[in-house]
Amino acid sequence: MKLHSLLFGAIALAFSATAMAQQPIVIKFSHVVAADTPKGKASEFFAKKAAELTKGKVKVEVFANSTLYKDKEEMEALQLGAVQMLAPSLAKFGPLGVKEFELFDLPYLFDDYKELHLVTDGPVGKALFQKLETKGLVGLAYWDNGFKVMSANKPLKMPEDYKGLKMRIQSSNVLDAQMRAVGSIPQKMAFSEVYQALQTGVVDGTENPPSNLYTQKMHEVQKHVSVTNHGYLGYAVITNKKFWDGLPADVRGQLEQAMKEATKYANDIAKEDNDKALEEVRKSGKSQIYVPTAAEKLALKKAMVKVHTEMAGRIGKENIDEVYKATQFDPSKL
Ligand code: LMR
Repeated sequence: MKLHSLLFGAIALAFSATAMAQQPIVIKFSHVVAADTPKGKASEFFAKKAAELTKGKVKVEVFANSTLYKDKEEMEALQLGAVQMLAPSLAKFGPLGVKEFELFDLPYLFDDYKELHLVTDGPVGKALFQKLETKGLVGLAYWDNGFKVMSANKPLKMPEDYKGLKMRIQSSNVLDAQMRAVGSIPQKMAFSEVYQALQTGVVDGTENPPSNLYTQKMHEVQKHVSVTNHGYLGYAVITNKKFWDGLPADVRGQLEQAMKEATKYANDIAKEDNDKALEEVRKSGKSQIYVPTAAEKLALKKAMVKVHTEMAGRIGKENIDEVYKATQFDPSKL
């Protein structure tokens, strides 16, 4: 009898060990935007590719729209190992202690995606990822969203129009300085709270690429949208270093490949998704879309570009100079 139960126990143990060995490695990937956005779609693409390339050894579970964690909590969750992957916007790394990422928030630093990629694919992009390692994180890729529009309940044409407006921003001091440069009052706030804050008048306006504005229905509570394209919003896909280094080398290689393909996909769809979203906002008739004239654009640019010098201490003048060199930008020629 004793022998029987011992035998039975041993067999059960062997079975559960095999079951354990076959359990997929789970990667929880949390983000704050809607599924139908460049980041939402790219994270799903990555999940599919990861399953395919690892032959089911890895299961990526994507949690969109702040359903798992909001902005600040997701960073803490990653450091604690409660999630394994995030793609926060580049404006949200200050609280992690890597404030140099706010470089990407500088108004009018990039004219288009091509200029932006010169930087993300170049030495500055790499150096920023190296900084992450000192925080126990690994930067896996840069994913595009797009160029930002401004919105409010009044038309926004000239810098004066922004005066006194409470504008929601992400947690970036560069964005804070940008809004102050035109006399508005910046309010840092989690993305998940923006719609309600606009609806109830806690803030008067905001900035985001059209894909975020549209999918969060912000246009339904903002009467005017100005296509300023004054700044860029993109992401760094990050993971916990301890988790990443602990993966079997072959699996890590397959995930790197999946990320490479997801990055191409993200960056291929970003512009079109934003163009489409702006068109949807226009069609909805809920917000008036205004495209500033060349003179209005220049006035806004002149008012905001001083933030580059103001923020050089925070971001590193050498980083800004490196970008100027790559994009052939010369603020003194404005
Ligand atoms: C925001 O908070 O406005 C954006 O960073 C949201 C996002 O992740 O695109």
